[in-house]
Amino acid sequence: MKSNRPRSTGGAEPLKRDAFRFLISYIKRHIPSVLSGVLLLMFVDFVQLIIPKIVQRTIDILGMEAFSNELIARNTGIILALAFAMIILRFFWRMLIMGSARRIEREVRRDMFSHLQGLGFSYFNKTQTGSIMALMVNDVNAIRMATGPSFIALTDALFLGSLSLFFMFSINTKLTLFSILPLPGILLMIAKFGPMIQSRFKAVQESFAQISAQTQESFSGIRVVKGFVQEGKEIEDFERNCGEYVDKNLQLIRIWGLFFPIVTILANLSLTILYLIGGRSVIQNTLTFGEFVSFAMYINLLVWPVIAIGWVFNLLQRGIASSKRILELLNTEPDVFDSPKADRSVKQIRGKFRIDNLSFSYTLGGKPVLEDIHLVIPEGTSIGIMGKPGSGKSTLVSLFYRLFPFEENRIFLDGEEIHRVPLPVLRGSIGYVPQDSFLFSDTIRNNITFGLDNGCIDTEDIERVAGLVSLHEEIMAFHDGFDTLVGERGITLSGGQRQRLSIARALVIRPRVLILDDAFSAVDSAKETQILENIRREMKGRTMIIISHRVSTVKDCDNIIVLERGRIIESGSHEQLVRRAGYYSRLYELQKLEERIA
Ligand SMILES: Nc1ncnc2c1ncn2[C@@H]1O[C@H](COP(=O)(O)OP(=O)(O)OP(=O)(O)O)[C@@H](O)[C@H]1O
Ligand SMILES: [Mg+2]
Repeated sequence: MKSNRPRSTGGAEPLKRDAFRFLISYIKRHIPSVLSGVLLLMFVDFVQLIIPKIVQRTIDILGMEAFSNELIARNTGIILALAFAMIILRFFWRMLIMGSARRIEREVRRDMFSHLQGLGFSYFNKTQTGSIMALMVNDVNAIRMATGPSFIALTDALFLGSLSLFFMFSINTKLTLFSILPLPGILLMIAKFGPMIQSRFKAVQESFAQISAQTQESFSGIRVVKGFVQEGKEIEDFERNCGEYVDKNLQLIRIWGLFFPIVTILANLSLTILYLIGGRSVIQNTLTFGEFVSFAMYINLLVWPVIAIGWVFNLLQRGIASSKRILELLNTEPDVFDSPKADRSVKQIRGKFRIDNLSFSYTLGGKPVLEDIHLVIPEGTSIGIMGKPGSGKSTLVSLFYRLFPFEENRIFLDGEEIHRVPLPVLRGSIGYVPQDSFLFSDTIRNNITFGLDNGCIDTEDIERVAGLVSLHEEIMAFHDGFDTLVGERGITLSGGQRQRLSIARALVIRPRVLILDDAFSAVDSAKETQILENIRREMKGRTMIIISHRVSTVKDCDNIIVLERGRIIESGSHEQLVRRAGYYSRLYELQKLEERIA
C-alpha cells in the first residue's frame, strides 16, 4: 500500500552538544536569579574564609600585650555576627538558586507534557506509560540537579577551593604543598566510585519503579487477581521485589560506607601532615599558633570543594544524559497534525463523508487493515458498521477524525479533502464514544462535561443528556448525585453505566457527527432500544455512525455495511441485507433465535 506518512515518529538521537544547548536554553531564562544566588553564595564562602583569619588573630593575640577581655569579646562577637549573617544569606542563595532550578524543572516538565499531548497514537502505541513516567520524574529530576546543586558545587569548587588554597599558601607555602598531597586521592576516589555509585543508584531507582509498577498493576487488576485466586502469587512477587529493593539499597550503602570513611581518612591525613610539619614549625617559632589553627580550618574548608569537583562532573553528566532523552521526546514530531493546507475559514462541519478507495495499515508497508474502501455517508443519515472482531471497524471510524496518518484524497468531508478541515474543528464536531469507555477519576459531572469549555457548561443540559442515556435516575440514586466521584478515587460504575456515561459525554457537545463504537455491548437490549430512540431524536438531521455486533443496534440505520478483513463485503439497508444470504442475514437469524430462547 502506498501510504502517505507525513513524518516518522521518534526523533534521531540528539547529540551531546544539542543536549547542552537544551539545558542552556532553560537556564538562560533564569540568569538574573541564578547569578544573584551565585554572587550571594560567593559572599557566604568569603565570610567562611574570613572566620579562620579572625580566629588566627585572636589566638595570636593571647599572651601578647594587646590582649584584653574586650578584644576577645569583640572578636567572638564578630564571629557570631558573621555566622548569623551566613545563616541569613544562605537562606537567600538557596532560595535563588534552588528556586530557579525548581522553576526550570517545572518548565521542562510542562513543555514535555504539552508536547506529549500533541503526539499521535503511534507514539503511545509503542511507548509504555512507565517509560513516560520515568522521563517525567527521574530525567526531569536530573535536570534540576544539573541546574541547581551543580551550580552550588561548581561555585564552591572554584571559589571556596581556590581561596582556601590561597589563604593556605599565604600562611606557609611548604606546609600547603605537603598537606594537600592526600587531596588528589579524594578526586581519584570520586573518579573510581562515582560511576559505581551512579549505577547502583540507578539500580535502586529501577527496583523501586518495579515495586510501584507491580502495586499499580496488581490493584487496578484486583478483580482478576481475586477471580483467579492469585493473591498468594502477587504477595510472593511483591516480597521478591521488596527484597530486591533492600538488596540494591544495601549495595549502594556498602559503597557509600567505603567512600565516606576513605574520604575522611584522606582529609585526616592532610591534618596529620599539618600536625607533623606544622607542629614542628610552631615549636621552632616559624609558624604562630594562630596560623596553625587557621591552617587546620582551611584544610577542613578545602575538603568539600575537592569533593564538589567530582560531584559537579557527575551531576552534569547525568543532566546531559537526561537532556538527551528528553530532547529525543521533544524532537518526536506528531504524525497527525493540523496541515498547513487546512482551510481556516472552515468553522463547522456538516457531516457528509465520502471515502474513495481507502487503504490503510498501521505500520509502514505493514499488513493492510483496510482495503479498497468506497463509501458515501450523506449528511444527516445513519450508517451501521458490522463485522467480525478484528475486521477493521474501529480502525475505519478512527480515520474519520484522523487518529492515525493516512493518504490524502481518500476521505472527503462535506466535499473537502479531510486534511483541509482544521483538526480542532474536525475533532470538536465529532462526538466519539470509544469501544473501551474510559472515565477520569473525577465527578460524574466533570466526566460528562469533559469535552466542553468551562463557559459552556449548563447543568440542565447535563441532566438532559443523562436522561437521554437513561442514566439520570441511577445518578440521582448516588448519595452525591452528579458530584459523585467515580474511578480510582470514588465508586466503580458498572460496565453499562460507564458506556452510557461515555455516550452522554459525546452528546453533550452537540456533535455534528456521532460515532458509537460498540457503545451498547454492556447495555441490555431493552434499554438499548430506548436509548437509541432518544439518540435518534436528539441527532435528527445529523450524521450517526454506529458500530455493533448486534443486528438490533444497526437495523434502523439508513445504510449498513459489513466488513471482513478490512474490505466491505456487504452493504445496503436492513431489508436488503436480510434478503441477501450473507454474513448479515445469518447473524440476524441467529440473534433472532437467541432472543426467542432467552
Ligand atoms: N493501534 C494499532 N496498531 C496496530 N495494529 C492495530 C491497532 N489497532 C488495531 N490493530 C489491528 O488492526 C486490525 C483491525 O482492528 P480493529 O480494532 O479495527 O478491529 P474491529 O473490527 O474494531 O474489532 P472489534 O470488533 O474486536 O472491535 C486488527 O488486526 C488489529 O490487531
Ligand atoms: Mg473495534
